[in-house]
Amino acid sequence: MPLLRLLPAERAHQVTLALLKAGLVPASAPVRDPILASSHWGLDFPNPLGLAAGFDKNGEVPDAMLRQGFGFVEIGSVTPRPQPGNSRPRLFRLSEDKAVINRMGFNNYGLDFAAARLGERKRSGIVGANLGKNKDSADAIADYVAGVTRLAPLADYLVINISSPNTPGLRALQGKEPLRALIDGVAEALPSGKPLLLKIAPDLTGEDRADIAEVALASPLSGLIVSNTTIERPASLRSPHAKETGGLSGQPLFAAATQVLAHMYRLTGGKLPLVGVGGIGSAEQAYAKIRAGASLLQLYSALVYGGPALVGEINRGLAKLLRRDGFSSLSEAIGTDAHHR
Ligand SMILES: Cc1cc2nc3c(=O)[nH]c(=O)nc-3n(C[C@H](O)[C@H](O)[C@H](O)COP(=O)(O)O)c2cc1C
Repeated sequence: MPLLRLLPAERAHQVTLALLKAGLVPASAPVRDPILASSHWGLDFPNPLGLAAGFDKNGEVPDAMLRQGFGFVEIGSVTPRPQPGNSRPRLFRLSEDKAVINRMGFNNYGLDFAAARLGERKRSGIVGANLGKNKDSADAIADYVAGVTRLAPLADYLVINISSPNTPGLRALQGKEPLRALIDGVAEALPSGKPLLLKIAPDLTGEDRADIAEVALASPLSGLIVSNTTIERPASLRSPHAKETGGLSGQPLFAAATQVLAHMYRLTGGKLPLVGVGGIGSAEQAYAKIRAGASLLQLYSALVYGGPALVGEINRGLAKLLRRDGFSSLSEAIGTDAHHR
């Protein structure tokens, strides 16, 4: 890990993927504690901590990451056609802030490549596919329909990602009418019983959030992922990269993303499982997300600073915190603080 941090951020990521593909990252024994297990959408999650989208955009290392102890892994975002993304540099470590800024712009090898990789798997462990649209696409709905059609048979759940700040116009699809049209269009292509989730931005007004909750509850969506990276730049940032364009993730995102999570929990009355993402770097933060309303969790940026050992650490710590507070299962703790945030 310290060696990787000597490399420029994107190079370090490429080396990490290469090591994982070559089987050179030792597996770590998964934390098996019944207090952490839960079931959603007919899937049995051994623990609630997943790998967030963006780490494995092309579905090359989902099983290697499951072997790091994650309860589930989300690949993508995948767009229908391959695209190079933005020019480099486009990924920045904000070490002083335990944060990352990225403006990758959905660089990925496209649906054919991801489908081939997922098709080679033995399919043990939960792997979801996060879908995006091509930058130059004239028909966003058609792009998501293509993604669902192609990857539904190969993934355990699907995610409509309309919250990346790095594809012009994408986040406008979170508006009430575009969102309804998008979900209706995608739902027609969705095989029955396949869970479909929506990933939202942290930078939404109260009205936006209420609209999303209303549309989501009246739709076939199975859950919401809260949240993607933020375009806000908290005044507390100290890193020289703080002003780079792109989405900010990691520690400085924790408070805002957790607040949006609690709000979405209240707005949806706890009826839709929420995946809490944004700034999780410790067991305490994982626990806070659960109490704010998350049924499941994801992280990415903390891996840059803590490495894969963090996965086991967070799961073990979370189990301890649940027991300390007298809960006998994870599900009992969900949303217990949602009204205080
Ligand atoms: C380098 C990088 C690339 C990302 N790419 C994607 C992506 O392709 N699709 C997506 O839905 N989210 C993407 N994300 C967002 C993460 O999935 C996550 O929502 C966000 O980083 C907040 O979690 P964290 O603070 O634990 O990193 C990316 C994040 C990073 C840092």
